[in-house]
Amino acid sequence: MKIFSGTSNKPLAENLAKDLGIELSPLEVFIFPDGEKRIRILDKVLDEDVFVVQSTSKPADENYMELFFIIDALKRSGAKSITAIVPYFGYQRQDHQFRDGEAVSVKVVAEILEKVGINKLIALDLHSIKIEQAFDISVIHLSALSIFAKFIKEKVWDKNSTLVSPDMGGIRRIKILSKMLGDMPYSIIEKNRDLATGFVFANKIEGKIGKRAIIVDDMISTGETIDKAASLLKKNEAEDIVVFATHPVFSEIAPKILQESGVSSVYVTDTIFVPKEKRFPKLKILSVSELISTELKKNS
Ligand code: R5P
Repeated sequence: MKIFSGTSNKPLAENLAKDLGIELSPLEVFIFPDGEKRIRILDKVLDEDVFVVQSTSKPADENYMELFFIIDALKRSGAKSITAIVPYFGYQRQDHQFRDGEAVSVKVVAEILEKVGINKLIALDLHSIKIEQAFDISVIHLSALSIFAKFIKEKVWDKNSTLVSPDMGGIRRIKILSKMLGDMPYSIIEKNRDLATGFVFANKIEGKIGKRAIIVDDMISTGETIDKAASLLKKNEAEDIVVFATHPVFSEIAPKILQESGVSSVYVTDTIFVPKEKRFPKLKILSVSELISTELKKNS
């Protein structure tokens, strides 16, 4: 087994290799003056099962292109099988046409990945089940919910806790987590987003809220969903609000919005590398490295 990493999330790839007791295999990423990249594999991969770690987070286009080139280089070097480990799968939100005339971006990137030559995809907390259906190859869909459940059980839980989904789209997720936590009560916020402006409205809460609200989401982008959910929860007597979200997509304004919001802590995972300038005091990062290495060990 050989593991290569693109440049988007090398710290996670390094931890993963460490968990597996191997070194990351070397590759060269040469950047031409106009920004184009040339990829060269610097290890022998002939007849090897090869894994490539690359989060296709911002800049998604660049990170995808880099991943495509790494896969192509591995194929041309004779790898037996290529598994793309994409901890954060970019372009997944557009999984169908919300409005006439739109592209279905997830289908496009899935088709390119297959065409360029991956045999399998490992991804985490995909936004919807439609994303797996965009692929013909096998998709292993892991979830950080087990990490959150363990952490909540050990460090956050008390009998006044309620899980909260900040929107209707998160119902499946919140039900699974509730089961993992021995049927912890949950409630759901009715949220609307203006598709043209991106503005978020948290309208009302379905279900009873305990003194501690634990919001769970798949990703945080602008932080608006969390901010609006926290304000609504505060109005409904929640005293402490903690957030768990798998993917710290974090647009430029998110750290400020989250730090100034009514939540006390924001737990995310390292599916996306968070640079120093985007870290803020309320932010805590949990690693998904063991979750992925356990999956790889199963198949080795
Ligand atoms: C929406 O369906 C997702 O689950 C997240 O709630 C959303 O992407 C978060 O975006 P933002 O942080 O910009 O509100």
